[in-house]
Amino acid sequence: LHDSLIAAVADAADLPALEGVRVGALGKQGSVSALLKTLGGMTPEQRQTEGPRINGLREAVSAAIAARKAALEQAALDQRLASERIDLSLPAPDAPAGSVHPVSQVMDELAEIFADLGFSVATGPEIEDDWHNFTALNIPESHPARAMHDTFYFGDDTARDGRRMLLRTHTSPVQIRTMTSKAPPIRIIAPGRTYRSDSDATHTPMFHQVEGLVIDRGIHMGHLKWTLETFVRAFFERDDIVLRMRPSYFPFTEPSAEVDVGYTLDKGRRVIGGAMPDGWMEILGSGMVHPKVIAACGLDPDEWQGFAFGCGIDRLAMLKYGMDDLRAFFDGDLRWLRHYGFAA
Ligand code: PHE
Repeated sequence: LHDSLIAAVADAADLPALEGVRVGALGKQGSVSALLKTLGGMTPEQRQTEGPRINGLREAVSAAIAARKAALEQAALDQRLASERIDLSLPAPDAPAGSVHPVSQVMDELAEIFADLGFSVATGPEIEDDWHNFTALNIPESHPARAMHDTFYFGDDTARDGRRMLLRTHTSPVQIRTMTSKAPPIRIIAPGRTYRSDSDATHTPMFHQVEGLVIDRGIHMGHLKWTLETFVRAFFERDDIVLRMRPSYFPFTEPSAEVDVGYTLDKGRRVIGGAMPDGWMEILGSGMVHPKVIAACGLDPDEWQGFAFGCGIDRLAMLKYGMDDLRAFFDGDLRWLRHYGFAA
């Protein structure tokens, strides 16, 4: 029995086969276990000679099984190491890299340009109330500007303290939030998403604006014009850009001005810049902050003045990067982004 069991252990080709041999010899019904049971029926003399033989057999078989098990496990490990080896010389698969969307890139550029002029970045909620979005900005309940803005309102059941909730129609409520939470002097820009119920090639229901606000003592239109000129020249990276200010009307600024940038024609294409413009393109609305707005924020308009402006970011990006369809900005089409060099 000893020799045949040792041979069976050596012949076991894998771990399941070896386990079969173990159960056949040492298991409850195994051949070695059966021999051990015979010891009970023996005389003391027989047991004295047979006991050590049978126990010796059991130990020899267990030892052989343990050794074979270790050998089989080592072989299995060697095989795995050989088959799973990583070939470090293979080229790595392309890892798709993300990129910064043109709108986000323009927001970053704006923050950098204005940081150099001493402005910090402020934010406000996209879900606003009508007091911050309209009333505090001198747009009373009945004012046609409320309708002009094509506002997305939330249901009356969302009203808080008698204020209707809405998607902000411009970034100007951040002016109010800043003036009511920080003491002047104030120099901030507020880039972000804005919403109006409007949709065609040049309007999307969601779009981006950047607000600018300066509140200090002795601020006048000259500061506004210089700031806008400096900003536009830095943004379009040309020193020969001229601005034109046209009198306009916003309820929250007085006086108000719409600002155009001069463009020149290059083979029929409009290029921003040129000391002698061929035409003008409107880029933003601006003005001196209305005394009523300053008072609504709890500041004394006789002590504090300032200017504000609001500018469409998507429009700026289109002009800077020569893009022509606003809607494509929000389609997330990688081919479009690649075409303008914004995705790998
Ligand atoms: N909020 C105005 C708009 O959306 C722009 C603006 C901002 C005008 C600040 C004047 C001052 O059209």
